[in-house]
Amino acid sequence: MVPPSPRSSDICPRCEDAILAPVAATHEILVCGSTVRVPDVQVDECPKCRFQSLSASETGLFQLLFGERTDSVEEMVQTLRSTGHRGMFLREDQSQSMLAFGARDYVAGLDPALRGFYLDNESSLMLDGLSASGDTLVQVELPSRRCTVRLPKIGEGENGVVYEYEESDGAVLKLAKPRAYSRDHILVECEVTEFFDSHGVPVPRIVDFDPHGNFAIKERLDGESLATLYDRLGAPDSSRHRVVRASVQRFCEQLIEIFGQHPGVKTSISPNNIFVVLDGSDCRCLLVDTGPAPLHDYSTFDFATYWQETIPQKIARYRQVGYI
Ligand SMILES: Nc1ncnc2c1ncn2[C@@H]1O[C@H](COP(=O)(O)OP(=O)(O)O)[C@@H](O)[C@H]1O
Ligand SMILES: [Mg+2]
Ligand SMILES: [Zn+2]
Repeated sequence: MVPPSPRSSDICPRCEDAILAPVAATHEILVCGSTVRVPDVQVDECPKCRFQSLSASETGLFQLLFGERTDSVEEMVQTLRSTGHRGMFLREDQSQSMLAFGARDYVAGLDPALRGFYLDNESSLMLDGLSASGDTLVQVELPSRRCTVRLPKIGEGENGVVYEYEESDGAVLKLAKPRAYSRDHILVECEVTEFFDSHGVPVPRIVDFDPHGNFAIKERLDGESLATLYDRLGAPDSSRHRVVRASVQRFCEQLIEIFGQHPGVKTSISPNNIFVVLDGSDCRCLLVDTGPAPLHDYSTFDFATYWQETIPQKIARYRQVGYI
């Protein structure tokens, strides 16, 4: 059996409105032109919008394709090596304890049906390795650089986990969660960052990103997310609370206007995605996550409801799943 993932449950990345629950499903995969049906595969399903994604604990399904059952990451690596998949998780010159992304040209050369499994496995191993580590510094080998990741994470959302790393004070490493939806989120995030920048919305610049979407390095933003700041704003009539509320309101209205004109860049204005910089009596907002949220409907958006009801509900859910 593949050991269960040490990571906890997740909020639905598509509607952001419910927590994914495990259900059994039949999974179909195309291998060399024929469909293979695998019954009783654990899938995470959203009870609201029915989004489905292979559960993190089942990303080891990849092993089934090679007809072997393994009990540990080491065994899995052995299995993959013995089946000739040497480039997959570790480079030849690296020890098994090192967390590493495989060579990107190797990934690009994989059959598209297998590539998804490969990428799921890769990020699953990476996130599990980091969350299971008792150290405060962990080496992560990216194709283009080595990052000495500082633990614990500095943030988490529906699609990724974000870390600081020693080699740069000005940048953060965002790792995608093991699903195609989240890799696509990161790729589009990288694509549209410039758009926001050129439309007067402060966003962190992209320093580097994986063409397959498993990671991105972004500038580190000043300030803190509205999700962690909100409960410390003081009474609604205090000047601090009022100045932040007014600034967030202007920012949300600016963004919603942009989404109206350019529906292709619609993103989620969740409290996790808005950063607030307080400087004396001055307050400004930044958009930390430009990733797509095509299902969000802002046509009936009401800021008072958002501020008083939506934000506290979202924060409660972030706490429930351990994002904050
Ligand atoms: N560039 C950044 N600088 C500082 N913190 C960040 C940065 N990017 C992300 N974070 C932290 O990580 C959290 C999740 O990041 P986010 O990009 O929203 O992930 P997701 O795509 O999963 O929603 C943010 O709320 C924030 O706390
Ligand atoms: Mg986000
Ligand atoms: Zn959903």
